Amino acid sequence: MCGIVGYIGHRTALPLLLNGLKRLEYRGYDSAGIALPHGEGLYIVKHAGTVAQLESMLNGLDLPATVGIGHTRWATHGEPIDRNAHPHTDASGRLAIVHNGIIENYATLKAKLQEDGYAFRSDTDTEVLAVFIGALYEQYGDIELAVRTALSEVQGTFGLVVLSADHPDILIAARRGSPIVIGVGNGEYIVASDATAIVEYTRSVFYLTDDELAILTRSGCQTKTIDDIPTSAELLELEFDLERIEKGGYPHFMLKEIHEQPETFRDACRGRLLAHEGNIKLGGLRSVEQTLRRANRLILTGCGTSWHAALVGEYWIEELARLPVEVEYASEFRYRNPVLSPDDVVVAISQSGETADTLAAVREAQMRGATVLGIVNVVGSSIARETHAGVYIHAGPEIGVASTKAFTSQLAILMLLALYLGRMRHLSATQAQEIAAEMLRLPDKIQTILSRGDFIQDIARSYAHATNFLYLGRGVNFPIALEGALKMKEISYIHAEGYPAAEMKHGPIALIDENMPAVVIAPRDELYEKVLANIEEIRARRGKVIAIADENDPDIAAVANHVIPIPRTLPLLTPVLTVIPLQLLAYYTAIERGCNVDMPRNLAKSVTVE
Ligand code: M6R
Repeated sequence: MCGIVGYIGHRTALPLLLNGLKRLEYRGYDSAGIALPHGEGLYIVKHAGTVAQLESMLNGLDLPATVGIGHTRWATHGEPIDRNAHPHTDASGRLAIVHNGIIENYATLKAKLQEDGYAFRSDTDTEVLAVFIGALYEQYGDIELAVRTALSEVQGTFGLVVLSADHPDILIAARRGSPIVIGVGNGEYIVASDATAIVEYTRSVFYLTDDELAILTRSGCQTKTIDDIPTSAELLELEFDLERIEKGGYPHFMLKEIHEQPETFRDACRGRLLAHEGNIKLGGLRSVEQTLRRANRLILTGCGTSWHAALVGEYWIEELARLPVEVEYASEFRYRNPVLSPDDVVVAISQSGETADTLAAVREAQMRGATVLGIVNVVGSSIARETHAGVYIHAGPEIGVASTKAFTSQLAILMLLALYLGRMRHLSATQAQEIAAEMLRLPDKIQTILSRGDFIQDIARSYAHATNFLYLGRGVNFPIALEGALKMKEISYIHAEGYPAAEMKHGPIALIDENMPAVVIAPRDELYEKVLANIEEIRARRGKVIAIADENDPDIAAVANHVIPIPRTLPLLTPVLTVIPLQLLAYYTAIERGCNVDMPRNLAKSVTVE
């Protein structure tokens, strides 16, 4: 959840570390800090606040070191205050670490170290690890051995980098459960928790695997397990460009990513949707084709927005492939005693590919003998590597904490999967062709909705003072009501709840009065008349209705306070369009309320802790 960067090479490290921290700030943004060798010791600056503030604290200082580490934090142990910020040091102050993850046995280790006379200055688990490594270094006089020994005794997760004033020509990086990627340059290495901090320096990278260590010097890199068994690193090429991680003239990453959706939806379908034939080509699933043919059931799992995509996928796959589907929160699946048969296929959906709960669900399903697939955005991420097979969504880096383009790309892949499974079963080529042809039209229809941004912003202005929002949808648009509510609450801090529209009368209707805006998703599908009746019920109680409805629908215009029109499409495909105005409504409401949409409070982009 936090961001880690480390550098060893021939450049002055500080600007590169700060630049890396700015790129990583979306991963956690309550504190920031750096450590560099300076004179005989380490120079450490850290504070609770932004990377920009850290940069101004360092302004004008002459710090020529060509090695260093940096961190941007999302608090787990200890509130976001200066002394809890990373880097943390050992007792001597000569060894510093930056760490992502959680040291679960930190309290036991801390108590032992306290008995041995060590004192602590922060409330963090990371400081315990730093002091522990330092104590072992005092004992062995060997920094690598000290790190390996400490890591073999800790329980929990880590992605970390160690810097020692005694060995300023070495950086040690290690991973268990929290990603570490290492960029390989000419006589230089950049370590980071994700590739966005690396791509402008080198495209050549390798990922550490669990319980693996990299010892980096200017003349080379050695990788081994924490038990000292040599390993070999597989070099990969990063596939995205620098411009994908810059705002490109937009005020926020979230708005840029919302506007990228015509392109990202197209990219997800490219080469896979053979519209003329009514067939689907998913190269990543070739190895499991026979398993998918005989599958009895699919279990879709994920968290947050990815879980909402799974809910839409459930409708689609059941409808088109007539295959039973269950959707499980990954965080629940991992701790249940799920009944899995060898003919069940589990599909993990994750933008980051690093969400701890989803990764744990993948491992649980594999342990029980199921075939596990991934629908993932980040190439080379843990879920992508640990699943048996899968499909990348190819949405490019998503930096805004609120997931937008990843969601519509996940939908694209889930529809391709539904068609693929359907064609293996009862779906005719003609039916598939009709859907496929319409999918190819969706990017232009998304663009049409995006062009109505000003209109949606006006609506947002009228309701930005609200304290509650209700989101209602039916059928395949019920998950979109959930997703709209999640977007609203996470970036504007307005309480919002999503319901199947018909459930309103079973309780939520009690909330409705003139201060309660209800966003009702009402395309003209087979449930349209029912949703219209729900709108009447809200209006009868003086509630305000913002309807998402087909263009030129006179019936809805007569009952709703506002109508955000969407182009017509096949009823099954409406979620790809109905979600777009909800993303914009949340965005403009948050802007109106002065919220930082790219870095909403308490959140982080990639949730790598439980
Ligand atoms: O990277 P993942 O898709 O696995 O992340 C899952 C959720 O943490 C994520 O969707 C979260 O809910 C977003 N902030 C929603 O906008």
